[in-house]
Amino acid sequence: MTNLLKKAYDATWGKYVFAGMYDKFLSRVEKYGLSEKRAEMLRPAYGKTVEIGTGTGLNLPHFPDTISELILTEPYPHMVTKLEEKVRDHPRRIQVTVAGAERLPFPDASIDTVAAAMILCTVPDPDVALAEIQRVLKPGGQYLFLEHVRNSDPRIAKKQDIIQKGWYLFGNECHCNRPTIETLRSSSLEIKELKEDKMPGAWEFIEAMVIGRAVRPETDAPLASVSASTGAGSDCQDPNCS
Ligand SMILES: C[S@@+](CC[C@H](N)C(=O)[O-])C[C@H]1O[C@@H](n2cnc3c(N)ncnc32)[C@H](O)[C@@H]1O
Repeated sequence: MTNLLKKAYDATWGKYVFAGMYDKFLSRVEKYGLSEKRAEMLRPAYGKTVEIGTGTGLNLPHFPDTISELILTEPYPHMVTKLEEKVRDHPRRIQVTVAGAERLPFPDASIDTVAAAMILCTVPDPDVALAEIQRVLKPGGQYLFLEHVRNSDPRIAKKQDIIQKGWYLFGNECHCNRPTIETLRSSSLEIKELKEDKMPGAWEFIEAMVIGRAVRPETDAPLASVSASTGAGSDCQDPNCS
């Protein structure tokens, strides 16, 4: 999308329909069981926890008491507004930070748990997002994910490819056909659990999903090379940033 088109889109569809009605759009699948799958994804969360692409905060009720600190990040201003409304009424102390997955404002190796639901479908480059997740995780720290993915049935995957252009506009730059399982497997994170599942009550072309847990290996490529290759972390506002 050109800048001008993107601005017009954000001020209309993005604000009033995508962000404004996001919870309503998802209410059917949440009721049919996505809500339980969110809880399943988040069950292992512990320690200092960051959520990426938090959206309107549909994961909020599912963070377990084993986390010590919760920071919710989201880059899209209209989603941030919705999120802040929810956080205001929440009994837990929560920090909301405006940031995209490719440039997280946290020092290297500072986070115990990174969680994200349905963001690798939307970020411009999933490999860059995964490298950034790896950068901020402590060695042994975990990344909890829930993603809708390319269907393993070639007949449905073909339909996903056909629908993709329209879906991208409807879903604020979401891709329904990304091979996210392969992307996860080819990252430097170590996949510990990966369950292929179905989004309950969803349309066929966004039904295939995956829930899992990956960890940053205790020893991985030198951090400097990860940061240098992504350009990430350079505008970190934390005094402990390296
Ligand atoms: C399909 S929504 C998922 C929202 C929420 N995680 C959920 O489970 O309901 C995708 C989210 O990714 C956010 N997003 C878009 N670009 C992003 C980026 N570069 N980094 C992180 N999040 C991004 C969108 O603003 C949106 O909130």
